[in-house]
Amino acid sequence: MASLNPCKIVIFSGAGVSAESGLPTFRDSAGLWRQYAWVEVASPEGWRKHPEVVQAFYNERRQKAAEAQPNAAHRAIAELEKSFDVVVVTQNVDDLHERAGSTQVVHVHGELAFARGEHSGLRQHVGAEPIQMGQRCARGSQLRPDIVWFGESVQHLEESRAHFAEAGRVLVVGTSLSVFPAASLVHAASAEADKVVVAPELDSPPQGFDWLRGKATECVPPLVVRWLHEVRAS
Ligand code: NAD
Ligand code: APR
Repeated sequence: MASLNPCKIVIFSGAGVSAESGLPTFRDSAGLWRQYAWVEVASPEGWRKHPEVVQAFYNERRQKAAEAQPNAAHRAIAELEKSFDVVVVTQNVDDLHERAGSTQVVHVHGELAFARGEHSGLRQHVGAEPIQMGQRCARGSQLRPDIVWFGESVQHLEESRAHFAEAGRVLVVGTSLSVFPAASLVHAASAEADKVVVAPELDSPPQGFDWLRGKATECVPPLVVRWLHEVRAS
């Protein structure tokens, strides 16, 4: 059993933390999975059936993510690094946490800024650039988005679980906690940790978490001020 580290904070974020940066969530009323059938654009079946449709879906998302700016919630989370060891475990594939200044970010569903050979698995940075059909990795394999699709295995799960178990404070923000196994990470948090979840809507708030029912830019900055004050007063 890892001992609790009062100086360690884990942030677990989902699409909702980037909503106020103008990036759509998935299951809200204007969410991506209301506009697209996820099995067509975010699954190995979709890639096999029409790779050019999947490529175009992620090229558009990559361009929009590159044009978006970090919001006050991303910036407040980065601010925590002044006084805490902060690990951001995110389901998001944008790089807004990094661009706000967070230095330890674990992407469990992949990253838009990277591509990989569909057969070689060779990963390469593409930044904001579109991936073209016919574009190949160094071993000649067609490049695909380096995103975890439905049915594929999540990245960095065990490493993330260990971070949760050790954290003295856990903030869950902007996720419906409806996709597994990523959502199961919240259960790795210690019963003794200070646990907060921020979202305007939640079907089932995780047990043991204080639910701040509101938007990320409204709820996260004051929470960060409180946590920074607590640690300076201790
Ligand atoms: P899963 O069961 O984890 O995800 C399926 C989930 O998608 C369902 O539980 C439900 O929450 C949601 N879902 C079902 N129908 C939907 C619909 N019509 N529109 C939107 N959402 C819908 O998926 P799986 O097939 O069991 O695969 C699990 C793996 O896939 C996990 O590793 C997970 O991290 C990964 N994954 C990736 C993405 C992605 O878009 N990159 C999305 C979900 C899951
Ligand atoms: N501030 C905070 N939370 C918000 C905001 C906001 N401004 N707007 C929406 N939310 C909340 C919603 O209430 C919801 O609880 O963010 C959550 C978004 O949930 P989803 O759309 O399901 O997104 P997410 O939880 O990240 O999805 C998980 O599903 O399709 C896959 O791979 C995809 O990583 C994604 C995974």
